Amino acid sequence: MSSALTKPASGTARPPRHFLDIKDHDAATLRRILDTASAWTRAAHPRPLAGRTLALIFGKPSTRTRVSFEVAMRQLGGDVIVLSGNDMQLGRGESIADTARVMSRYVDAIMLRTDRVAKMEEMAAHAAVPVINGLTERSHPCQVLADIMTFEQHLGPIAGQKIAWVGDANNVARSWIEAAAILGFTMSLATPSDYAPPRDLLAWAAKAGAKIETTRDPAEAVAGARCVLTDVWVSMADEDADRRRAALSPYQVNTALMQAAAADAIFMHCLPAHRGEEVAAEVIDGPQSVVWDEAENRLHVQKAILAWVLRAI
Ligand code: CP
Ligand code: NVA
Repeated sequence: MSSALTKPASGTARPPRHFLDIKDHDAATLRRILDTASAWTRAAHPRPLAGRTLALIFGKPSTRTRVSFEVAMRQLGGDVIVLSGNDMQLGRGESIADTARVMSRYVDAIMLRTDRVAKMEEMAAHAAVPVINGLTERSHPCQVLADIMTFEQHLGPIAGQKIAWVGDANNVARSWIEAAAILGFTMSLATPSDYAPPRDLLAWAAKAGAKIETTRDPAEAVAGARCVLTDVWVSMADEDADRRRAALSPYQVNTALMQAAAADAIFMHCLPAHRGEEVAAEVIDGPQSVVWDEAENRLHVQKAILAWVLRAI
């Protein structure tokens, strides 16, 4: 909560610690969040957010992000308000900037899910409290930290490893590319040409020294990979569903493709999944799949992100 009554003397106020994208943070910060998340998987952990309130604002549907943030805030001793963008004056045209200014007088942090990155940026620019990105059409940073935590639980440090992405280079894939640059692992993506990673992100990654490989061939991308990832062919912000399904149909992760990866490779998917489309049931429900651990780790990572933005770690 930020108010004229509680604000420190002019010049001493620190800017809010937003969590908007993986690429905004250095390896030490990401590692601190990941280490805290691992330490807080146990039932008993500190409750450093007592007296604090988090607002969750959803412009798009959610199961995992909503429930894991809500439970995370409560486990840390804090309180939560869950709002649908459509039920707020936002839905009748109140600006995001004004919403951010008002919300900052009531709550201590805001998590936003929206289909337009410009809305996320406007919220962050005008909020006096931390803003957390709970997904835009461009990125899904909280998901990817949970994914990395899951990889490391199963296969050890991710630095130097090869991770494969098969399908649409969507919001989740883009956050993975950013993570590869900062945490030092190889990301190999197999996508149709129309759904390849954007050039500006690849240019940024190259400049950051990242090892990013792109191909049209799923078998090439997964060769030697310790983890195979995919996601839905039609994301919440996408409108060209039929065209996407046609272009992406050769990119299903099935048993034959998993056999082309490293022998101990794991399979991850942020969920929700469509069995028979981007992933075969035998893979997501099979022995290499760690999707339920991955979903659980959203909870632990959210706790660590909340503690970090609220300067409790
Ligand atoms: N993976 C994920 O963000 O799931 P939800 O859309 O259910 O929040
Ligand atoms: N790429 C998906 C992720 C859902 C959690 C979407 O944006 O719909």
